[in-house]
Amino acid sequence: MTLYLIGIGLADEKDITLKGLEAVKSCDYIYLEHYTSILGVDKNKLESLYGKEVIVASRDLVEKEAEEKLINPAKEKNVALLVVGDIFGATTHSDLMLRAKEEDVKVVPIFNVSVLNAVGIVGLELYKYGKTTSIVFPDDDWYPSTPYDVIKQNKSLGLHTLCLLDIKVAEPSKEELLKSARDPNYVPKTMPPRYMTVKQGLEVLIHIEDEKKEGVILKDDFAIGVARLGHDDFKIVAAPIEELLNVDFGAPLHSIIIPGTLHHIEEESLSMWK
Ligand SMILES: C[S@@+](CC[C@H](N)C(=O)[O-])C[C@H]1O[C@@H](n2cnc3c(N)ncnc32)[C@H](O)[C@@H]1O
Repeated sequence: MTLYLIGIGLADEKDITLKGLEAVKSCDYIYLEHYTSILGVDKNKLESLYGKEVIVASRDLVEKEAEEKLINPAKEKNVALLVVGDIFGATTHSDLMLRAKEEDVKVVPIFNVSVLNAVGIVGLELYKYGKTTSIVFPDDDWYPSTPYDVIKQNKSLGLHTLCLLDIKVAEPSKEELLKSARDPNYVPKTMPPRYMTVKQGLEVLIHIEDEKKEGVILKDDFAIGVARLGHDDFKIVAAPIEELLNVDFGAPLHSIIIPGTLHHIEEESLSMWK
């Protein structure tokens, strides 16, 4: 039988491809990966379109319990892992494909649009993006400088940088899991998820600039904030960083683009979003 890895697009239940929908309908178990990205609709919308139950898969299920929950069952049955955006838009899923192949499980990937190409709408040439980077919530005031260094390197080559912003989907603590193991009626408590905003991402970059002082992120440099690409109410604003800090981008998900050297057509395109 088969392990289907299915990209379901960026916004809602209708973004799945016909191929994806056909595959889902043939599956005995359908998992929705829900920690590297989110859809704008609840899983019950997916369930009514598919006519099947959808199980929300935690990071532990996809990364630590993959053998038990996805790979082994796919030896006998059809199993789907649904991924918001495209399957290969997050590094985790290439690893899953590799592990399934090692177990001789048939894997069928079904592609969809990803934030990595949806940013094309901004008007900066996709071919002129350098390395993509992720900005994470600072931990105990620790600010990893990787995104700053990546932007610096990309800029030195004239390349644009796509900065993906952190998603913290808190899993229940060990104590909570123990309580629920002892009492089947106990529902473990979790913290609400946190999605980094454009403002928070820019503040992290400014903080690193204040420490390193290498002139990579200056408040009057232009940057582009994007939110909910692919959704009807998407938002894109191109402005100096100082101004972007005051823009309300609304509901998640957000990303930031730091432009490299601009061609005049790219400059013209950006004027649509000023
Ligand atoms: C791991 S990445 C994307 C994974 C997804 N599989 C994909 O292919 O789009 C998740 C990050 O991408 C960005 N992102 C995803 N979807 C977005 C959207 N529709 N609009 C803006 N940014 C988005 C956010 O910064 C989010 O935290």
